[in-house]
Amino acid sequence: MHVLVTGGAGFIGSHVAAALRDSGHDVTVLDNFHPAAHGPDPAGPGPGVAHADARDGVLVGDVRDPDAVRAALRGVDVVVHQAAMVGLGLDLADLPEYASCNDLGTAVLLAGMAGAGIRRLVLASSMVVYGEGRYTCPAHGPTRPGPRAVSDLDAGRFEPPCPRCGAALATDLVGENAPLDPRSVYAATKLAQEHLASAWARGVDGTVTALRYHNVYGPGMPRDTPYSGVAAIFRSALERGVPPRVFEDGGQLRDFVHVSDVAAANVAACARDGAGVAAYNVCSGQPRTVGDAATALAAAFGGPAPVVTGEYRLGDVRHVVASPARATAELGWTARVDFATGMREFASAPLRASAALPASAPPRASTGPRASAWLPAQVA
Ligand code: UD1
Repeated sequence: MHVLVTGGAGFIGSHVAAALRDSGHDVTVLDNFHPAAHGPDPAGPGPGVAHADARDGVLVGDVRDPDAVRAALRGVDVVVHQAAMVGLGLDLADLPEYASCNDLGTAVLLAGMAGAGIRRLVLASSMVVYGEGRYTCPAHGPTRPGPRAVSDLDAGRFEPPCPRCGAALATDLVGENAPLDPRSVYAATKLAQEHLASAWARGVDGTVTALRYHNVYGPGMPRDTPYSGVAAIFRSALERGVPPRVFEDGGQLRDFVHVSDVAAANVAACARDGAGVAAYNVCSGQPRTVGDAATALAAAFGGPAPVVTGEYRLGDVRHVVASPARATAELGWTARVDFATGMREFASAPLRASAALPASAPPRASTGPRASAWLPAQVA
């Protein structure tokens, strides 16, 4: 097949393009080399673009540009849409750029695909569409806590309580049918991408495979910026010789999934048998705390032990972990890189340079645990 990978020069996109090529597909890349994700020379592939060379057919262009999209779609059978701005961002001044890159970009791409008669889309979505993960109250059963109150966070109460009785909640795996409840600008734009793609699929009788990535990490991840995930932030701190700063009490649960596994999920999604729209959790199935990720990276790097700062960010959710069972059953995909091996490799893997960006907004302070060493907790 001939596959167009938008954002195919970025961290995840370059691994996806390489995996597709290795599986025998022809690959075209469309990438605008956005300064949030690329080095100081945004006009061309930066030093971290290990996999995007001339043989890939790299087109420098923007998914928001209908002419660039039309040119990139020539002869294409499937589009794998990775181009997006990620992360929490700098502040709300970022809002238009998130909406523009992620939602206007998707709309222009889908219109171009409709015009070109291309009916197959693989969409890089995210677990952020769920908001908080799945929780169970001992008295009320499955429950959905709302956004955490600032007064609770200020007081160091990080676990969201049952909204009906205030009881402590148990964390559970979130399934693809969970209600969607984005809690940040980025999350809202990712959910809008899913909705736009669904509307497009109805209109063209198309196929959409939305891959809800969990916390992706691995070689080529951009260095610490306001748009980076926590693994890159911790790794960058270690490189600077300072301890990773673990927010809240370090007990936040996430699923860290290796970028090579994410690339393999995209290859499997291109071949999905079945019409219509389907979403899949792309996760390892091995929940870990953020504190555990910091500890594993610091140990493998040989750097200073993490500190738990008690700080918090308003856009963060507490726990979100999931089962990859649907992707295994329907796409025949399963993650292969286990947490310990992946973190050990990531501790010495090359990172991608990123443009000089202002520091992200400082996290807020709480009166909770701070500046203590992280003690790994038992993960249920
Ligand atoms: C992340 C990404 C998102 C991506 C998604 C799935 C955000 C902000 N980031 O979501 O782009 O699509 O994974 O791959 O949406 N933390 C620290 N210390 C720090 C920075 C963060 O302890 O220096 C903590 C945060 O408070 C949070 C956790 O690490 O509890 C994860 O942070 P992050 O990776 O930024 O966000 P996710 O919500 O997991």
